[in-house]
Amino acid sequence: MANKIENGEEKQQQPIPLCNPYKMGKFQLSHRIVLAPLTRQRSYGNVPQPHAILYYSQRTTKGGLLIAEATGVSDTAQGYPETPGIWTKEQVEAWKPIVDAVHAKGGIFFCQIWHVGRVSNYGFQPNGRAPISSTDKSLVPQIRASGVDVAEFSPPRRLKTEEIPQIVNDFKLAAINAIEAGFDGVEVHGAHGYLIDQFLKDQVNDRTDEYGGSLPNRCRFGLEIVEAISSAIGAERVGIRLSPFANYGQAGDSNPNALGLYMAEALNKYGIAYCHMVEPRMLTVGEKCESPYSLLPMRKAFKGTFMVAGGYDREDGDKAVAENRADLVAYGRLFLANPDLPKRFELDAPLNKYNRDTFYIADPVVGYTDYPFLEAAERL
Ligand SMILES: Cc1cc2nc3c(=O)[nH]c(=O)nc-3n(C[C@H](O)[C@H](O)[C@H](O)COP(=O)(O)O)c2cc1C
Repeated sequence: MANKIENGEEKQQQPIPLCNPYKMGKFQLSHRIVLAPLTRQRSYGNVPQPHAILYYSQRTTKGGLLIAEATGVSDTAQGYPETPGIWTKEQVEAWKPIVDAVHAKGGIFFCQIWHVGRVSNYGFQPNGRAPISSTDKSLVPQIRASGVDVAEFSPPRRLKTEEIPQIVNDFKLAAINAIEAGFDGVEVHGAHGYLIDQFLKDQVNDRTDEYGGSLPNRCRFGLEIVEAISSAIGAERVGIRLSPFANYGQAGDSNPNALGLYMAEALNKYGIAYCHMVEPRMLTVGEKCESPYSLLPMRKAFKGTFMVAGGYDREDGDKAVAENRADLVAYGRLFLANPDLPKRFELDAPLNKYNRDTFYIADPVVGYTDYPFLEAAERL
């Protein structure tokens, strides 16, 4: 049992459900506090850099689950500066020492694999071509999540039906590469208005082929990816992230409840490691709001490990686990700013505040590996 230090006095802490062990398929987790995928834009030229070794190992605990930042599956997958990829040999080699460092401390490390689809522009695409999507509808220019610049998007090109297997294959190859790099598994990024979400959501997907229209048709692309990856690397190494309620990237849905439920039920067929859903309260980027919706129906429908994310703190996350609304809770901003978040939660210690201004800067240290650990914070 851990002891809490308060005003110089040691107080005995009761263990909380959030800190209890959990078995996720073949992975024995020592607690339920997961590092959420966090884009940090410090992978110069789309190649992970040595400074990520320190960043991820700082956030590793023995038996803790970490999800790496969104990582491009191909040369058409990118839409932000300096985000990592996993489609070239050089990228795979660059990931290896990072993964090794996490493993050396006993962590379990999944790679979030990603294709931005239309959230891109000619500048990010090979030979300045149009970004690909489910649609040819353009995104309206929008303020980046960083709040500092306005992203410009080029009109996307609607994928032809016969091109879709190639994109599914890109995800599969990326998953195989992730395993080659040493990752324990992959998380398919099916959330936040990116390519898979552009198929899932009826406000974007205006296709008339078997990948558009009905709910099963819109979900087909994402499920084909899950199936292809599961058969390539084993379903026990596959997770997926979904945000049926979010409307980031102008990707909303007229019936998010039905969409989330359909996916949760359809995913049962594959026996994947986990389903990771973003809370309805995270309607817009970075802001928590009141929502009449809940992930509970999806939690109940999905037979495997259920992970939630979005606006959680210690009490809230603990309550979700205690009430069996989730098996695991992913923390984004709090984990970004508190490398030793599991320890702080265990001790109920104060937290560092995150600095939004340094979320996406390219600095290899500032706002990245310079957030203090508990001992250091207490000395300040
Ligand atoms: C700096 C930053 C980068 C993010 N990058 C990703 C990402 O790469 N993939 C993803 O699925 N979500 C990403 N998110 C969303 C987080 O994973 C998480 O869902 C969100 O921050 C809400 O959780 P929180 O309230 O615990 O921060 C990002 C969020 C932040 C703040």
